[in-house]
Amino acid sequence: MKLQGNTLLITGATSGIGKAIAKRFLAMGNRVIGTGRNHSVLAQMQEEHAHFTGIAADLRSPVSLQQLVETVQQQHAGINILINNAGIQHQYSWLDAAEAWEKIDEELNVNLVAPLKLTAALVPVLKSNPDPVVVNISSALAIVPKQSAPVYCASKAGLHIFSKALRYQLEKAGIQVMEVLPPLIDTPMTEGRHTGEETPESLTDQFIKAFQRNRTEINIGKTGKLRLLHRIAPNWADNILKNG
Ligand SMILES: NC(=O)c1ccc[n+]([C@@H]2O[C@H](COP(=O)([O-])OP(=O)(O)OC[C@H]3O[C@@H](n4cnc5c(N)ncnc54)[C@H](OP(=O)(O)O)[C@@H]3O)[C@@H](O)[C@H]2O)c1
Repeated sequence: MKLQGNTLLITGATSGIGKAIAKRFLAMGNRVIGTGRNHSVLAQMQEEHAHFTGIAADLRSPVSLQQLVETVQQQHAGINILINNAGIQHQYSWLDAAEAWEKIDEELNVNLVAPLKLTAALVPVLKSNPDPVVVNISSALAIVPKQSAPVYCASKAGLHIFSKALRYQLEKAGIQVMEVLPPLIDTPMTEGRHTGEETPESLTDQFIKAFQRNRTEINIGKTGKLRLLHRIAPNWADNILKNG
């Protein structure tokens, strides 16, 4: 895929991985439409980058999601790359899950339903532009789960299998579907668990190389080895991440 002259819609461009990918594409000569709830970060990104447009949207809310779709359709119909990146992770015990219903809705809506609905609504826009691509940011936890975040793992496993099936369907229309599977990355989402091993910038380096080579499933860092181990010795791989 080409690295210049694209127009990208990136959800969750206000922090971590989404922000790093947005900045890299801006630096390479692309236009970026970035979303998030944080108005001040969106305004700051817009001030710092002439080709960045921020749209505030809360992906938990169907109304906000619909408004985002309408704004993109009406004002940014040139997008050829959709990066479904926004995500949240709740960690709690199901033995004492008093507020579980709210958290289940939040995680599934942001991590799974919003990417599916955004993709469904924007495929016609993507298809009308050259070199259309959908990129879904899932996780190594889509393959091997950890006990502390069952709903997060379920949402990412859903996004993983969705990406695969959608790829088969959209290839006939010339739309590429890519999936990025990061391991633990040092971002605000993983505060307190930082390893210094993989950062949003190191992920972006690996993603850009794979993107350029049209790779469809992009294993970041240790994810590749984990998936290989999971194929050969699934119980061993499960035990490694179980308490992660
Ligand atoms: N960090 C890791 O170790 C890791 C590993 C595997 C996969 N991932 C995935 O990578 C993606 C990015 O995560 P990150 O680590 O960069 O996390 P992050 O720094 O916490 O950023 C999350 C982004 O999602 C947006 N977001 C969260 N809730 C939202 C909502 N209700 N509506 C709209 N936007 C919302 C946030 O924007 P606002 O706060 O402005 O709303 C923010 O821009 C996620 O899908 C995550 O699951 C991360």
